[in-house]
Amino acid sequence: MKTIRDKAALTAIIDSWKAAGDRIALVPTMGALHAGHMALVTEARRRAARVAVSIFVNPMQFGVGEDLDRYPRREQADARMLAEAGVDLLWLPPVEAMYPAGFATTVSVTGVSDGLDGAARPGHFDGVATVVAKLFNQLRADIALFGEKDFQQLAVIRRMAADLDMAIEIVGVPTQRDDDGLALSSRNLYLAPEERAAATALPRALGVAAQVIERGGDPVAAVAQTREALSAAGFAVDYVALVDAETLSEAVETGRPMRLLAAARLGATRLIDNVEVQVR
Ligand code: PAJ
Repeated sequence: MKTIRDKAALTAIIDSWKAAGDRIALVPTMGALHAGHMALVTEARRRAARVAVSIFVNPMQFGVGEDLDRYPRREQADARMLAEAGVDLLWLPPVEAMYPAGFATTVSVTGVSDGLDGAARPGHFDGVATVVAKLFNQLRADIALFGEKDFQQLAVIRRMAADLDMAIEIVGVPTQRDDDGLALSSRNLYLAPEERAAATALPRALGVAAQVIERGGDPVAAVAQTREALSAAGFAVDYVALVDAETLSEAVETGRPMRLLAAARLGATRLIDNVEVQVR
């Protein structure tokens, strides 16, 4: 695996892959890698000759007072995991290379970005879309993989790629979970042991509500019950919402794929999760 921090070196290696006609897959990450990230890498390996992973803790997608400064950084352990997984290229751009003096462009996706995490974290998805657009251009990848764990992010990226005619295939990978159901996340490292135990209420409550709705129960009541279950487990709830799986609009029409999403805080740690709601 080549570890590269310099744009000129990156261009040279991508040029050589392109000249050889190799299909390139990109897995963008912010590091502190876990089995969720590695599932994206495995899927990337299956789909392309060359796999590139980026690690960049993107300041543009963190709001004031969020966890940019304490976001876990584990570069050496990450590099070892990726090398063992057969990754060809690790792209580790310094902040100055991504946002040099004079940087003035924002990619802003309206609609799918507006509600849910977009409302709770103003500017977050502008930061995500902008950095991902840059990574797509830097790596010239044929395919990029994203986790369903960040379901709204995946929808935003799909929208951006379609709207801006980006010649890249966007692939969503199912959420990887711990044995007790908690979605793997770099932010789980923040949880104290008692918080980690309480956190399982999030996937449990979402699973119960999805089942209730799938069996014909009242969606409004199921959403309200989810909020109550989360509060009872000690969460401060940001949102629980049943949305159209594509537009993320709360105007749910029967017969269209649905998704139940939630964000909630345990102490200082904000967790998100979502589940499919099967349409009958
Ligand atoms: P990060 O949180 O590091 O996540 C990188 C990728 O891994 C995302 O596509 C995310 O959805 C996926 N992922 C995280 N946990 C997962 C899990 N438990 N199961 C499946 N996939 C999982 O998301 C970001 O970084 C950033 O916003 C980024 C896209 C890199 C832009 O900065």
